[in-house]
Amino acid sequence: MRAIRETDWKALRSEVLETFTPGPPINEVAEFAGRKAIIQRLQDIAIERARHAIIFGERGVGKTSLANIFYKDLNSSTRVVREIAVDADSLDSFDSLWRKVFRRIRWPGDDSNLDTCYPGPIEPDHVFLELARFGQNEAPIIIIDEYDRITDENCRILMTDLIKAMTRLPNNPTLILVGVADNILQLVRDHGSIHRNLVQVPMDRMNGDEIKDVISTRVRRLRMKITDDALWRVAYFSAGLPFYAHSIGKYAALRAVEKQSINIDESLVLASLADCIADVDYTVAESYTRATEKIYRKGNIFAQVLAACALTENNDLGQFTAASVEGPLSKIMGEQFEVPAFSFHLNQMTNPERGNVLKKTGARRTFQYHFAEPAMQPYIIMKSLQDGVLSREVFEQFYVKRQKAFAI
Ligand SMILES: Nc1ncnc2c1ncn2[C@@H]1O[C@H](COP(=O)(O)OP(=O)(O)OP(=O)(O)O)[C@@H](O)[C@H]1O
Ligand SMILES: [Mg+2]
Repeated sequence: MRAIRETDWKALRSEVLETFTPGPPINEVAEFAGRKAIIQRLQDIAIERARHAIIFGERGVGKTSLANIFYKDLNSSTRVVREIAVDADSLDSFDSLWRKVFRRIRWPGDDSNLDTCYPGPIEPDHVFLELARFGQNEAPIIIIDEYDRITDENCRILMTDLIKAMTRLPNNPTLILVGVADNILQLVRDHGSIHRNLVQVPMDRMNGDEIKDVISTRVRRLRMKITDDALWRVAYFSAGLPFYAHSIGKYAALRAVEKQSINIDESLVLASLADCIADVDYTVAESYTRATEKIYRKGNIFAQVLAACALTENNDLGQFTAASVEGPLSKIMGEQFEVPAFSFHLNQMTNPERGNVLKKTGARRTFQYHFAEPAMQPYIIMKSLQDGVLSREVFEQFYVKRQKAFAI
């Protein structure tokens, strides 16, 4: 193999930084991994008349990226996609939201700004009439992201009215609403009356293969290599959240380049966790500090309990019981710990004084806990390993268990 020169390593370093994108959403189909079934579903909705979609799921699962790319190959000789994407914010009313959309529409032969044509408040019927102006060969796709941030009840009600009215449109504009939510009722008023027109598209976390795909396609493009074991590690630490896959992938690749190597192995992935922790959203780091801090310099076991929570087996909704924390906590502490010894800690961590890291649902005796922020669980594992709260040995026991469960 030809020796790689100093300048090539520098170029490769820049390529790594461009290739992994922990942060900005994806804009290109080629950059987007997995999610084939959902993409097809959204494309069908865009083609069918009077059908719209609401994409919802946990924070950071890839909602905006999906909304950015799903329509890109719908252009054909008889159909031109006209995409308009806006972000809702907490101050938006129906009027201000649609003004954002109107400012992005230019009708042929008309130079005026559509927004200024409406001196008074914009109503659903105004929107209806403007949308009716799109041609039969056009596929207007209007994406309203961050829909969960709208606090104005009236706006939500008028949106439902608009979606109902849009069944009368002779052409085929498609509305795509996108927001963070566990269920659609948190985002849409009177959903029952439009359930045939507004299709629910819940978005889960990515599965292990999809996360591996995020990494392996990028590593291949960089003409680098990654071992299977290293890929497993990235999938485990990412817990289905693509941000972590990008962040760990980036730092592991940078560490390889630093050593003038094109090979990424497990040890580089483990070493990159420290960099990844520093990349995580400030609010996550802040909640962790709050959850585990010493009060009046008195030692406590909050960090250990939290690490045990992050290691537990949980159900599809990410929920776990207090009893399931016993096993990992006992391993971490090196002695048997039963629920009464730490139920106080679990409860405290559902409070703001301890960073609101956990949420509790269900009734007494059947309480279930889950992490309030999805990004928290991977962060806790990495941070606990880093700080020595979790030894490599204990971690590996649970890691192997999880890996086996994945492989079945
Ligand atoms: N299918 C994918 N393939 C590769 N990377 C992805 C994919 N989906 C998302 N990402 C990456 O994951 C991160 C989060 O993506 P995105 O911003 O789309 O999520 P989101 O659900 O809109 O987040 P939020 O809830 O904060 O709005 C980004 O770094 C993005 O580049
Ligand atoms: Mg988003």
